[in-house]
Amino acid sequence: STLADITSSFRTKPSEKARAAADREVILADPGFGKHFTDHMISIDWTTERGWHDAEVRAYGPLMLDPAASVLHYAQEIFEGLKAYRHADGSIWTFRPQANAERMQRSARRLALPELPTELFVESIRQLVNADAAWVPSAPETSLYLRPFTIANESFLGVRSAQRAAYYVIASPAGPYFAKGVAPVSIWLSTEYARAAKGGTGAAKCGGNYAASLLPQKEAYDNGCAQVLFLDPLEGKYLEELGGMNVFLVKKDGTLVTPELSGSILEGVTRASIIQLSRDRGITVEERKVTAQEWRDGMASGDVVEAFACGTAAVVTPIAALKGPGFVAGDENAPAGKLTMSLRQELTDIQYGRRADPHGWMTRL
Ligand code: COI
Repeated sequence: STLADITSSFRTKPSEKARAAADREVILADPGFGKHFTDHMISIDWTTERGWHDAEVRAYGPLMLDPAASVLHYAQEIFEGLKAYRHADGSIWTFRPQANAERMQRSARRLALPELPTELFVESIRQLVNADAAWVPSAPETSLYLRPFTIANESFLGVRSAQRAAYYVIASPAGPYFAKGVAPVSIWLSTEYARAAKGGTGAAKCGGNYAASLLPQKEAYDNGCAQVLFLDPLEGKYLEELGGMNVFLVKKDGTLVTPELSGSILEGVTRASIIQLSRDRGITVEERKVTAQEWRDGMASGDVVEAFACGTAAVVTPIAALKGPGFVAGDENAPAGKLTMSLRQELTDIQYGRRADPHGWMTRL
């Protein structure tokens, strides 16, 4: 079947157990992050013979997986994260879904999984959000977080790419990612563990990268930090990224500095958008190698005046301090940086339709 056939052929099997409006409203009043799921999900199957087929909007619920399914053994899995935003007039929009579709295709290539065409990706998002439109919250800074993912599900224990896979999208109403909201966080410098290797899967959005981050992330929590910072795996000198987001520094002269895409860093859609919005303002953005030493010393000398994390889940989150074994750089109680908060404001104003969208980033669902 052609792409147009499958894109226009979603079968809808409405959930028989859709939650009552009153229960939904309780959840939407305080959604947290990633704790509650909507009434429906998307599934699309893939085999080497048939390609993508059987696109469905169906009730949210458990998957039936053969215990030999490849994803359970060799972690052949990729995922994405994007959000649906409710505008003041009630309409629902998403942000740069083509960028997520294209990144998922790059992740798929690296993990030897099938690539879902952009058109079908965007249509899957539209189908799910239309089915669960009542789950898109409207309170300030809330959204519906969308989690597309593809798993290998061939029942075969040989180590080779699977000949069966499935793509799913689930959705979860979301408030701020961090428990404290948009308040500044502290970051833990992991000196023992790396996230990715040269030639590895660091640039792909695959579950394995996040599995590898969990132990160092736990170390970060144990040291009162919200995220772990990983350094490059070769020299252990240069910033790569945080456990689940990219990182920026603001220098005293107003320049923004962020680690260049090294091949082992996730190509964040929020990262790219922040770079664009900053350059639109005439701010110099340096994508280059940046050492942990430059950050640490800069916090002490006043050469680094702000730092922030960014990602779809984190949006833009100010960083107050960098901590590591035996040191604290910056002041854990410092207020959020000015430029950090104004970039956050500009980005969210575009996403929530409060400001013009000069780059055509928004797609109505
Ligand atoms: C996102 O920002 O969407 C992410 O995927 C980060 C994290 C929740 C894993």
